[in-house]
Amino acid sequence: MADEDTTQAKDFQADVPAPNDPFFLKGSNNLDWGLKNRLANIFDPSSGRTVMLAFDHGYFLGPTSGLERVDLDIVPLTPYADTLMLTRGILRTVIPPTYTRGIVLRASGGPSILRELSDEQLAVSIEEAVRLNVAALAVQVFIGSEHETQSIHNMTRLVDLGNQYGIATLAVTAVGKEMARTPQYFRLATRMCAELGATYIKTYYVEDEFETVTAGCPVPIVIAGGKKIPELDALELAYKAVQEGAAGVDMGRNIFQADHPVAMIQAVRKVVHEDVKPAEAFELYQTLGREG
Ligand code: R5P
Repeated sequence: MADEDTTQAKDFQADVPAPNDPFFLKGSNNLDWGLKNRLANIFDPSSGRTVMLAFDHGYFLGPTSGLERVDLDIVPLTPYADTLMLTRGILRTVIPPTYTRGIVLRASGGPSILRELSDEQLAVSIEEAVRLNVAALAVQVFIGSEHETQSIHNMTRLVDLGNQYGIATLAVTAVGKEMARTPQYFRLATRMCAELGATYIKTYYVEDEFETVTAGCPVPIVIAGGKKIPELDALELAYKAVQEGAAGVDMGRNIFQADHPVAMIQAVRKVVHEDVKPAEAFELYQTLGREG
């Protein structure tokens, strides 16, 4: 028999409605709880943005500059990242399992820098992703390339598998040598990925009309840093991107190839999460760099 003590007053606060708040990320309100929980481990719910530290480059480039020793060069940066984007090889061998923020796992691969890069296939099973407790799987999409359909098919398969297990899919819009880096191109590529099911998208910042890329894409967009540029320019790039609608950055070389990587990631955080102007963030970078 139920323990129903009728002598004690109970307060159900029946006049207070249960909260029914929308999820903080664009286009993500209708996702399942597990997926939202993982996204909240990639994006910071208080700013709605993310600083993803990308160091998956070795999957086709080998030990590129700044990534010769991930244990020595990258692990000290991880406390400042909202999430890490990497391969399973580096995750297992180098990253301490005590790391508790979201992991974004590179899930496509195949060709090296010596070959046609668009010829990628899926390179991780969903069981492996679950075993590694990842928050998202990242897949390269090569719109306009020789293997466009194959790469889109890789992405849609990953979306189906990820949705089954509550794991997000990050579509990475690749830019090949012949592909124009124009607003039109990025509007096409990001919108295609969103329409075909990507949870969020990584693309590149373009001068003029970037806000049309973010506005036309119904899911969050983060921008890649791209090739190393001077630190102040990289902070300006991040600033313009978030001011024009990006939900953060997925930055690699402009952090780990900076003169002071630990200082640089902290300066990037200021720009992304606190809307600090690039010049001020650059001062912080120089101060932290000197303290080194
Ligand atoms: C390409 O190798 C990867 O997708 C990188 O994670 C991505 O390009 C971001 O790194 P970066 O800021 O160096 O372009």
